[in-house]
Amino acid sequence: MIVAVPKETKLKENRVALTPDVVKDLVKKGFQVEVESGAGLNSFFSDEAYTSAGAVCVSDRKQLYANADVILKVNAPANDEIAGMKKGAVLISFLWAATNADVVSAAAKAGISAFSMDAVPRISRAQKMDALSSQANLAGYKAVLMAANTLGKIFPMMTTAAGTIRPSKVLIFGAGVAGLQAIATAKRLGAVVEVTDIRPETKEQVQSLGGKFIEVTGDDSIKIEGGYVKGVSEDFLKKQQELIAKHIKEADIVITTALIPGKRAPVLVTEEMVSSMKFGSVIVDMAVEQGGNVVGSESNQTIVKKGVTIIGESNIPSLLPMNASALYAKNIATLLFHLAEDKGFKWEMDEDITKGSLIVHNGVVVHPSLIKS
Ligand code: NAI
Repeated sequence: MIVAVPKETKLKENRVALTPDVVKDLVKKGFQVEVESGAGLNSFFSDEAYTSAGAVCVSDRKQLYANADVILKVNAPANDEIAGMKKGAVLISFLWAATNADVVSAAAKAGISAFSMDAVPRISRAQKMDALSSQANLAGYKAVLMAANTLGKIFPMMTTAAGTIRPSKVLIFGAGVAGLQAIATAKRLGAVVEVTDIRPETKEQVQSLGGKFIEVTGDDSIKIEGGYVKGVSEDFLKKQQELIAKHIKEADIVITTALIPGKRAPVLVTEEMVSSMKFGSVIVDMAVEQGGNVVGSESNQTIVKKGVTIIGESNIPSLLPMNASALYAKNIATLLFHLAEDKGFKWEMDEDITKGSLIVHNGVVVHPSLIKS
């Protein structure tokens, strides 16, 4: 089987779907790997590194698409990329199918099959394929560094002959994958870290990283399913906002990572809260692409409101392309090895990972969430 890796074309995307190390693993298993010339350059992997790993570098993009049995990508392809794939080919990439109807219908029209990395179920068997987690983990780290770079202060307490500098205060919303890494990073840099989450079990995790947990008590309206929050009452969110209001006034940095899967990001930082923040403080709204946790944040914009900088970078992993590509490549190759052998795909349609991540099969939309009953 020919596995092709095109260069990503999305604006500001530096990642690549396979790294030379992982190409070696594919070649060892009998796959033929073709990489578009220059595909790895923004992640600092040269064409020579790919050819030494056993890949063939192809400069004709059309030919790369037309020959491939499998296309591995980071971002969902554009319509012309899908149209260039041969019938029966298999695409694996982030697809965000629920909000990307165009891509799903283009894949169906082209008669290809498409698996989505963001739909791989978060079960322990699929941990090595979990690209959402691998990328969120890196993004949580980088979000803190971005905020630190913008803040006109240092994080740690410092006693000097000219006086003592108080430590900066970092307030984090959401202690999932990105949030926990943000806590660890801010602590390592010496900040005082406060955290709010609505899943009770996160309290212990936050405390074990040295964060202070801000707890909303006396509400049992939270519904948890498979480790995810499925719903929370308006009353709880109101109580949470009241409690947070006084912490946010003191914060130098706010990082928001709150997410309820399949739903628009909950709005947790109101305009009033932003106005209450200290002049010079910084917010990073990591959930900006899902609608944002912060009123006024804008995708891929940094705006300043009454002296508060709000950063809305939507693709933070791309700012760490070496690590982000390396982890993504491991994730996508593990999924490929699970689904296929060098001779072809297994198509085990009742198997959990296949069922969860397969969006289109041979031109037919098959994902349960997309089939109208
Ligand atoms: P996750 O599902 O692991 O964590 C989300 C956390 O939010 C959970 O712990 C959940 O309990 C919590 N939460 C839900 N409602 C809340 C509320 N009202 N108050 C406080 N906490 C609440 O998600 P993960 O992987 O950590 O991602 C977090 C967010 O960051 C997502 O929106 C994701 O799309 C985004 N993200 C953004 C990136 C970027 O480049 N901007 C990169 C990676 C992730």
